[in-house]
Amino acid sequence: MARLAVFASGTGSNFVAIAAALKAAHRHAIEFLLCDVPGAAVLDRAKELGVPTVLIQYEKGQPRQAVEKKMVRHLERRGVDAVALAGFMKLLTPWFLQAFKGPVINLHPSLLPKYPGVHGIEESFRSGDPELGISVIRVDEGVDTGPVLIQKSFSRIPGETLAQVEARIHALEHECFPREVLKMLDEIDGMSGGAR
Ligand code: GRF
Repeated sequence: MARLAVFASGTGSNFVAIAAALKAAHRHAIEFLLCDVPGAAVLDRAKELGVPTVLIQYEKGQPRQAVEKKMVRHLERRGVDAVALAGFMKLLTPWFLQAFKGPVINLHPSLLPKYPGVHGIEESFRSGDPELGISVIRVDEGVDTGPVLIQKSFSRIPGETLAQVEARIHALEHECFPREVLKMLDEIDGMSGGAR
C-alpha cells in the first residue's frame, strides 16, 4: 500500500475523483487532504468522504518555507509517499521539493507547454486552437514546467462556449488524473515491495 496526500485550494471535484478511484482500487490510502483556503468547498468534500483534513494557511509576510515546513512535518508524520496537487493554487518552492522525497504531480487544464499558470482554461479557449486538453506533470521548480506524464486532448466543436469547453476539460481531468495517481502509487508500491 502506498500513502497519498492531496493538496487542493478550491472546489475539489478532482479530489473527489481521486478518492473514488482509490476506494475502488482498494490498495492505496489518502492520508489527508491539505488545503490552504479556509472555507474552501474541498474541505467539505473531504469531510463527507471521511478523509482527514489539514488546513495550512499562508499568512501575509510569513516566509513560504515556514509554511512548507509545517506541510512536510504532516507528510512525514503520516508516512506519505506521494503528493497530488489537485487545484492547489500556491507554488511549492524548491525547498519543499527537496525536503519531501516522494513524487509530486500536478494537473493542469491545458496542453502544456501552452498556457501555463492560473488561466489555463480561459487562455486555451481564447487561443482559437483546434485541439484543447489537459496535462498531468511531475512538479519541478518552475510554473507548470515539469516533465509531462500524460496529455489528453479533444477537438473543439465550432461555436462551443467557454462553459462548455470548461465542462469537457473537467470531464477529461476526472477521467485521467485519478488513473495517473493510481499508476504513480502502484509504482511506489512496487518499488517498496508492497511491504509497508
Ligand atoms: C482543475 O481545472 C485543475 O486542472 C486546476 O485546478 C482545477 C481544480 O478543480 N489545476 P477542482 O477543484 O478539482 O474542481
